[in-house]
Amino acid sequence: MDAMADTNAPRPASNRSTVPVSDTFKDYISSKWAERPDVAPAPREQASFAAARRVALSQKYPGKRLIIPAGAAKVRSNDTDYAYRAHSAFAHLTGWGSDAVAGSVLVLEPTASGHEATLYFREAAGRDSDEFYANADIGEFWTGRRPSLAHVAADLGLNTANLNAFASVIDSVDAATLVVRGADRDITDQIDGRRLLAADTESLETDGDADLTRDLSELRLVKDAYEIEQMRRAVAATKKGFDDVIADFAAITAHERGERLVEGTFNRRARAEGNTVGYDTIAASGPHACVLHWTRNDGAVVPGDLILLDAGIELDSLYTADITRTLPVGGKYSEVQRRVYEAVREAADAAFAIVKPGLRFREIHAEAMKVIAAKTAEWGLLPVSAEESLQPEHQYHRRYMVHGTSHHLGIDVHDCAQARRDLYLDGILEPGMVFTIEPGLYFQPDDLTVPEEYRGIGVRIEDNILVTESGAENLSVGIPRTADDVEAWLAG
Ligand code: GLY
Ligand code: MN
Ligand code: MN
Repeated sequence: MDAMADTNAPRPASNRSTVPVSDTFKDYISSKWAERPDVAPAPREQASFAAARRVALSQKYPGKRLIIPAGAAKVRSNDTDYAYRAHSAFAHLTGWGSDAVAGSVLVLEPTASGHEATLYFREAAGRDSDEFYANADIGEFWTGRRPSLAHVAADLGLNTANLNAFASVIDSVDAATLVVRGADRDITDQIDGRRLLAADTESLETDGDADLTRDLSELRLVKDAYEIEQMRRAVAATKKGFDDVIADFAAITAHERGERLVEGTFNRRARAEGNTVGYDTIAASGPHACVLHWTRNDGAVVPGDLILLDAGIELDSLYTADITRTLPVGGKYSEVQRRVYEAVREAADAAFAIVKPGLRFREIHAEAMKVIAAKTAEWGLLPVSAEESLQPEHQYHRRYMVHGTSHHLGIDVHDCAQARRDLYLDGILEPGMVFTIEPGLYFQPDDLTVPEEYRGIGVRIEDNILVTESGAENLSVGIPRTADDVEAWLAG
């Protein structure tokens, strides 16, 4: 399908256009449409939380104009875009998730007492334009109807304005304007051009932009009540996806690309329950489990092997779970599989046991590594003792787990990634933080340092953890974790 015509589109007119251009046609297609009442909705639940986040941001940036674009749709291949997803900082500050209109921009305009926020977006086009039938990128006949300014203003509790009016914001850009770079390249280029003019120089200082991006990342380190509830829902939906995969095991093992069926089954649940998956599903059977981000998922799922499933459902609010279970395809772990699995579980449990407010984030990883070092030493895999291996200059055990144990989790699967080290890796845990605990052991199929029985075994157990006032809650504890419980789950 391509567009009949493209008179409003950012793309050049199609050389395949078959649009009738006669005035008769234009008059006809513009007429005889029923009135559409536009009832303003009550503010969505997250609106007041997003407003509080904007206030927190405003207080950090007195006198600065802050521009937070949602980002444009991204082309996948000719005439075909990736599914649209708004920039995470934009979603966080507006509460607009899977239904955000591509190309929108949030502007915080400085005032005497703080900032006034306005959301610019391309509102529904009228029947007096040809956009609705002739524009394949954004026309109602092609991609669906967009909401009105009044509707979104009520829904999100924000001032709204037509995207056309954003041009005047660009006109007023000066040295006191900051933008989230990378959210929308065109807008960033326009702002840079204006700031160069305003400063009358040829090189631009963008440290302020980087600070803004960093601060927006840090603003997400502690989740509010709405976000915590979304995380619970994302985990609950993800559990259903894991259940679906297990229920499909007969078909999965019968198919030569069973990993694709695992991905498809899980992703079907993700689309049904929320927006999509929060990251490409890792369906890694047998030695593929030793590839940390195995997303090709084109292998068979063979009884006797393990399958590592790392998957998370992203809700319409864009909050995502990030959960891994490693399942014995035939229903029972072999003796060596169980040994490795339970070692990883011990590492996860040890790390979880120390989580509480006041702990340093990186201590979680250190705690898990004590178990990983002890177990690999006990099995005779290390050239030194566990204690020696744990010395920073040795770390032999890390050959079998090269990744970290934890990352913050939320609207991005790797959330808060621009936060300063002082607040992230070296940061102190606070109630409301949500992160993963995900130790693993991966014995590559050609690793000559391990006995043959270990080769090709990869295990990861990943849970989503909430720091509470008194300790921690494992949000994903309801998804079976121990070897016995996993076997019972598969048998059921
Ligand atoms: N799913 C990617 C990760 O666990 O970090
Ligand atoms: Mn993770
Ligand atoms: Mn994961």
